[in-house]
Amino acid sequence: MKLLVILPVVCFLIVLNAAHVESKSRFMYQMLVFGDSYADTGNIPKSDLSPESRQWYSPYGGRRHPSGRLSNGKVQSDFIAMLLGRSEGPPTYRLRSRYVDMFGMNFAFSGSGVFEVPQKVPTLSEQVDYVEILIKEGAIKDWRLKDTVALVAISGNDYVHIANMSSSNETIALVGNVTTEIAKEVKRLQDLGVPKILVNNLHPLGCTPRHSRPSNYARCDDRANMVASMHNKNLAEKLGSDHENVMLLDLNTAFSKLVQPSPDAAKNPSDDNLAKTFTNKLRPSCESYDPKGYCGQEDENDHPQYSLSDLDDDPFGNFYWDDVHPTHTGWYFVMMQMQEYIKDFLDI
Ligand SMILES: *[C@@H]1O[C@H](CO)[C@@H](O)[C@H](O)[C@H]1NC(C)=O
Ligand SMILES: *[C@@H]1O[C@H](CO)[C@@H](O)[C@H](O)[C@H]1NC(C)=O
Ligand SMILES: *[C@@H]1O[C@H](CO)[C@@H](O)[C@H](O)[C@H]1NC(C)=O
Repeated sequence: MKLLVILPVVCFLIVLNAAHVESKSRFMYQMLVFGDSYADTGNIPKSDLSPESRQWYSPYGGRRHPSGRLSNGKVQSDFIAMLLGRSEGPPTYRLRSRYVDMFGMNFAFSGSGVFEVPQKVPTLSEQVDYVEILIKEGAIKDWRLKDTVALVAISGNDYVHIANMSSSNETIALVGNVTTEIAKEVKRLQDLGVPKILVNNLHPLGCTPRHSRPSNYARCDDRANMVASMHNKNLAEKLGSDHENVMLLDLNTAFSKLVQPSPDAAKNPSDDNLAKTFTNKLRPSCESYDPKGYCGQEDENDHPQYSLSDLDDDPFGNFYWDDVHPTHTGWYFVMMQMQEYIKDFLDI
């Protein structure tokens, strides 16, 4: 009799306890973010309107104030932060003080790559130097480092010149160099004691509006997509599959299911849903009049030199926000596809 009464109570407590442990570890993580605009939440200081500072000007930020993100809302690092129970990614390196926030720091700079790129911003290796100094100075304590997840978001700035490369051998060599650098920096983070590292693979570069504009957004550029595939194969080989503390995030598949679904997608209900999510898969919400211009551009009379579709009215109107970046809703549907995978990796 007694046992019958106690048993449900014990079971209830076990369930309660399990739930408690789970939510606790989720909030315990700090994030260290590296890479480019897919992860940057405002490391480039605001300056006069230019392609390099457009993230601080309307229409960036959508209906809210521009926040230094190249999106109408949030970016990838914010969506990972939300899995960790936060409302947005950790504070930027630019705004650092003597103390590193308990939730970590964002070292990603829009326009960055693994090599020096036209925009003079810290490369991936320099970003890792910054965190190395903070760790060695003790601004990031060992006990805090124990519960750290890093994101490495390298999204193709090293490949802006591929269209001009004279031979495919040259492209192959560049891909080899870029992936070697990424793998090297991931190894450095491991050696510094970062226990969990998420590494983006390359999204289908050729589907970005920058590459699909010549076909009036009808087609992805196969050549650029091939470079992305080559990069991804190389990167997966160099990172190896035997690291339990490194996980590749397959952005390529997640983006493709939304913007370039395979003809077979209709056979699988979940793929079919993803394929039907966005009305305009390749056309951006914000489009500069001049193909060489940029979203946010104004003429000398402050007149916008871009067209803008109303995403507040129809969040599913466009997957892409500008010529290279997804919309807030675009990112939501990309990250939703890997959410369970990330939670498993982080044991949350
Ligand atoms: C490609 O080459 C052309 C002509 O050689 C040059 O005008 C253009 O700026 C180059 N583009 C890139 C992305 O390097
Ligand atoms: C490219 O590489 C292959 C094999 O390494 C070589 O046979 C070929 O001559 C190279 N082509 C060019 C244009 O360099
Ligand atoms: C790749 O790296 C090697 C060795 O540093 C260098 O000689 C070569 O020019 C690089 N190639 C490209 C295309 O970046």
